[in-house]
Amino acid sequence: MSLQEAPAIWGAMRARHGQDTATAPGFARMISTCLDNGVDWVDHADIYDDGAVEALHGQALQHLTASERGRLRVISKCGVRFASPGQPGVRLHHYRSDAAWLHQQVDASLARLGVEQIDLYLLHRPDYLMQVEETAGALADLIESGKIAACGVSNFSVHQVDAVTESGRVHPIANQVEVSPFHADALDNGQLDQARRRAMVLLAWSPLGGSRLFVGDDAASRRLRTCLEAMRTRYSGAPGIDSLVLAWLRRMGVTPILGTASIERLQRQVSELAAIEMDVQDWYEILEAARGIRVP
Ligand SMILES: NC(=O)c1ccc[n+]([C@@H]2O[C@H](COP(=O)([O-])OP(=O)(O)OC[C@H]3O[C@@H](n4cnc5c(N)ncnc54)[C@H](OP(=O)(O)O)[C@@H]3O)[C@@H](O)[C@H]2O)c1
Repeated sequence: MSLQEAPAIWGAMRARHGQDTATAPGFARMISTCLDNGVDWVDHADIYDDGAVEALHGQALQHLTASERGRLRVISKCGVRFASPGQPGVRLHHYRSDAAWLHQQVDASLARLGVEQIDLYLLHRPDYLMQVEETAGALADLIESGKIAACGVSNFSVHQVDAVTESGRVHPIANQVEVSPFHADALDNGQLDQARRRAMVLLAWSPLGGSRLFVGDDAASRRLRTCLEAMRTRYSGAPGIDSLVLAWLRRMGVTPILGTASIERLQRQVSELAAIEMDVQDWYEILEAARGIRVP
C-alpha cells in the first residue's frame, strides 16, 4: 500500500518499553497485526534507543513470513544527535545534514533493520547549518543507489520544505510533524496547506499527545476528554476517545503515526478508525475543546 493510501502508520519509538513489543517475537506479532489491519508502514529513526529499536525490527523479520516481509514498508530518519552512550563524542544536542553523515547513517540503519532498501527516509529535524544542495544531492544519490526508495522531511517549516524541493534534486513526499488537537499549529502555519498543494503526506507524530489525552491533568486535556466522552456515544459502536482523535486527523487528510506498543490497542484503534465518518461539527467541537476558544 502506498504512503498516500495508508490509513495510519505504526511508530516503533516506544517498542522496547512495551510489554507486547519488547522482544523480537512480540515485535513481529505487532507487525503481523499491523499488516492484517492494513497498516503496512512502520516508522523508525536511527536515534530510537540508540539504534536498538531498528535492531529489534531486524531480529523480528525472521519471525515473519516472506509474504509479510514483502508487504512491510519502512520509514527511518537521521540527523538528530544527542549526548548518549550510543553517540560517543557528542556533548550536546545538535543536528547534522551533511552528505557524509547521511550516507553513514543510511548504511547503519539498513544493517540494523535487515533490509536492502528503506522505503522512505526522512531528515529528522531541520539543521540550521544545512547546505541544501549538498543534503538534497545526498538524498538523490541514495535514491539513485537504491538504498532508499523516497525521501522526506520531519519537523520542517514550509520555507524549509520549499528550500529542499526547489533545489530540484529531490521531491520530498512527506513532512512528519507533531499534530494532535493539543498541537494543531500545522493547521495555521501553512504545513497542512503545503502538503496538500505539493501532494505530500503530512504524517502526525504524537497524535494522542504522547498519552496526554489519557493522563493530562491540565485544563485542555480535561476539556477534550469531556468532549470526546460525550461524542463517542453518538458514533456506532461507541469508539474509544483515542479513535475519535485519530479520525479527527484523518478527516483533514493527516496520517496518524500510532504510538501504542499494545497489540490489542492498535487493533482496536485501526478498526474503529476505519468505521468513523467524522461529522464536520464534531471536528470543530474537538478543535474548540482543545483550544478552549470558539472559532470566530
Ligand atoms: N519526527 C519526530 O520528531 C517524532 C517525535 C516523536 C515521535 N515520533 C514518531 O511518532 C510515533 C508516535 O508518537 P507517540 O508515541 O508520542 O504517539 P501517541 O500515540 O500520541 O502516544 C503513544 C502513547 O500513548 C499511549 N496510549 C495510546 N493509546 C492509549 C489508550 N487508549 N489509553 C492509554 N494510553 C494510550 C501509549 O501507551 P501504550 O503503549 O501502553 O498503548 C503510548 O505511551 C512514534 O512512535 C515515532 O515513530 C516522531
